[in-house]
Amino acid sequence: MQTDSSFTFVLFGGTGDLSMRKILPALYEAHRAGMLADSGKIVGVARHEEDRAGYIDWVNGHVKPYVSKDGLDEAAWESFLARIEYVKLDLSKAEDFVLLRDAVNKLSGTRVFYLATGPSLFVPICHALASVGLNENARIVLEKPLGYDLRSSNAINDAVGEIFAEEQIYRIDHYLGKEPVQNLLALRFGNALFEPLWRREWVESIQITIAEELGVEARGDFYDNTGALRDMVQNHLLQLLSIVAMEPPHSMDSDSVRDEKLRVLRALKPIDPRDIQRVAVRGQYHAGVIRGTAVPAYATEPGVKKDSTTETFVALKVEIENWRWSGVPFFLRTGKRLADRVAEIVVNFRPVPHSALGPTALRPGANRLVIRLQPNETIRLYCLAKQPGEGMNLASVHLDLAFDQFFRENQMEAYQRLLLDVINGRLALFVRRDEQEAAWRWVEPILNDWSAANKAPKPYAAGTWGPAAASAMLAQHGTCWLEEEN
Ligand code: BG6
Repeated sequence: MQTDSSFTFVLFGGTGDLSMRKILPALYEAHRAGMLADSGKIVGVARHEEDRAGYIDWVNGHVKPYVSKDGLDEAAWESFLARIEYVKLDLSKAEDFVLLRDAVNKLSGTRVFYLATGPSLFVPICHALASVGLNENARIVLEKPLGYDLRSSNAINDAVGEIFAEEQIYRIDHYLGKEPVQNLLALRFGNALFEPLWRREWVESIQITIAEELGVEARGDFYDNTGALRDMVQNHLLQLLSIVAMEPPHSMDSDSVRDEKLRVLRALKPIDPRDIQRVAVRGQYHAGVIRGTAVPAYATEPGVKKDSTTETFVALKVEIENWRWSGVPFFLRTGKRLADRVAEIVVNFRPVPHSALGPTALRPGANRLVIRLQPNETIRLYCLAKQPGEGMNLASVHLDLAFDQFFRENQMEAYQRLLLDVINGRLALFVRRDEQEAAWRWVEPILNDWSAANKAPKPYAAGTWGPAAASAMLAQHGTCWLEEEN
């Protein structure tokens, strides 16, 4: 389906890493699939290229390698390039924003300003846009991280909020655009089957893991000032948690969904600073081997301080204080340079109360739902079945919802879905200010503890599943991480 109307998509940070790897490739895919209105234009904004020809050269050289896993469609690529305009802009020059305004005024349709820049530039850019009247009838997209803690995030939100109304602000969390996350909503709220079981009476524990094999790549400098708690937990993991745990929304309109997610975030059991050792594990990778390749320690990565105490791994035990979830532990985990690249949500149901069929039926995890976000997106339901042959021996079997086999059409990448939502004015998959505040408020005691005490994170070898303490935390609850079962 094509976007509702024409648009002018202005991309600040137009020659940055994110534009190169994610935003422009996603716009190209939407274009190739015929999903963008024919008259829609993309305006790259950057300092480095002199003119449109220079920018098109840059796009050809840098973006092309990231598009279309299944082969580039040259004709589509050429017509995509025809959508692109360019404005050379120095953020410190007011007159450059006048040039931007003149360029944008020549174009039609919904105006989108995408700030693929560092958060320190969000406020200056918004002020400069307002000074030339470009904040009127426009949408603004803010990339994460939005701030460094509750205070700095509030400062940015206050300042941006003076220029743009909340309905104009699209705070992006690309995990919300991933297809299996959408499918989780469909599974939960489109089927009556799971709803009665989706609560403390039937669920023993839930794990949410985002594990990466990659290290900090070229972002050592940024990452060393950020760490995994800010980079992944405050946003992606807490957003996933709120989708897993939310009540059924009244409708799928943006505020119904976001209201329910907010209720979950506000119901997170506050972290007592005296408890942090028990419910939070913090690690940093040392040198190790991943899939046969030696990788260096975090502290030797470019841009990282030699004596850095920044965490590259976090595991948490989280509780939700409401009737549905009281007492059910949610174990969250994320890390860089782990043994595998996997993102998944594991719902462990309680075993049968009494087994006439032997001890297998009493094992934790006999009934389990695994929602695999990446790689190989699937939803898998584990049950016990009788093994063929003599006797009554039970074995684990599973039902698969393998999206790629069921639905032949190409799946959409997260950024593609989210960018189309911005152009079409759909806010449901973007983070509202109050959600963001609730998430920062909840992580703040951990942030404070880890920074004030300047405690060293626990070491783990690259290519493993993180510090042993992360396993010990689950063992206290008589359970283990999914990969430890085999
Ligand atoms: C980003 C983080 O938000 O998400 C990165 O800043 C991380 O550090 C990335 O690597 C992971 O996203 P994905 O979609 O590759 O799992």
